[in-house]
Amino acid sequence: MIRSENLRSGYIQDDVEEYLYKLLPERDAVVTEIEDYAAENRVPIIGPAVARLMALLVQVSGAKHIFEMGSAIGYSTIWLARAAGPKGKVIYTDGDPEKANRAKDYFRRAGVAKRIEVRVGNAHELLNRTSGKFDLIFNDVDKHQYPDSLRVALPKLRRGGLFISDNTLWSGKAARPAAPDDVDTRGIQEFNRLVYASKELYPVLIPLRDGVTVCRKQ
Ligand SMILES: C[S@@+](CC[C@H](N)C(=O)[O-])C[C@H]1O[C@@H](n2cnc3c(N)ncnc32)[C@H](O)[C@@H]1O
Repeated sequence: MIRSENLRSGYIQDDVEEYLYKLLPERDAVVTEIEDYAAENRVPIIGPAVARLMALLVQVSGAKHIFEMGSAIGYSTIWLARAAGPKGKVIYTDGDPEKANRAKDYFRRAGVAKRIEVRVGNAHELLNRTSGKFDLIFNDVDKHQYPDSLRVALPKLRRGGLFISDNTLWSGKAARPAAPDDVDTRGIQEFNRLVYASKELYPVLIPLRDGVTVCRKQ
C-alpha cells in the first residue's frame, strides 16, 4: 500500500505504482511507525521501495563508511545503518534540530544508535569539515542545492565509492522546460547534466519512485 502521496512518482501509472508497493514485505514496528508519522505529518521520506534499493547498494558494495546529507527524521538513515551492519558507521545530517531529536529516538528503538552519528547543521559544511573519504554518500537535501551537493561530495568520496541522490526526476518535471523561478527543478536539471558530463562519475538514473541517481566514482 502507498502510505503517503509523496511516495507517488507523478509519472508512473497509479496501478503500476500500487503494484510495486504491494510487492514489498511489511517493515518492522519502528520503521512502520516512521512511515506512518511521515505520512501524517507530510515529512518527505524515500519510502520502502527506494530504501530497499539503497540497502541493496550498501550490501553489494560493502559500504561501511557512509555520509548522509538531508536525513530528516532518520528513515533513510536506519535503512543505511542496518544494511551496513554492526561495523558500519553512518553520519546523519540535517539542519532541523527537532527532526534530529525525533530521529535519535527512532535510532535507539531501531537498535542502530551506536552505528549513527547525528550532526545538526548545513550538510555541505558538515561534510566539508569531515576528514577522510566515504564509501557511500547519500544526497537528499533541498533540490536547488543539488549542484552544490555534487561539488562538495565528489572530493569526499573514495574511488569506487557510490554517490546516490533521490528525486532526480522530480515528479517528471526534470524532463520538461522549467520556469525561471522554479529553482528546485532547475537545480535537479543542472545536477543531472553535471553528473552525466562528469569524467569522474559513472551515473545511472533509475526511474524508481521520484528517480534515484546512482553514481560510481571512477
Ligand atoms: C527529503 S528530506 C530527507 C528525507 C530522508 N532522507 C529520508 O528519506 O528519510 C530533506 C531534509 O533535508 C534537510 N535539509 C535541506 N537542506 C539541507 C542542508 N543544506 N543541510 C542539512 N539539511 C538540509 C531538511 O531539513 C529536510 O529534513
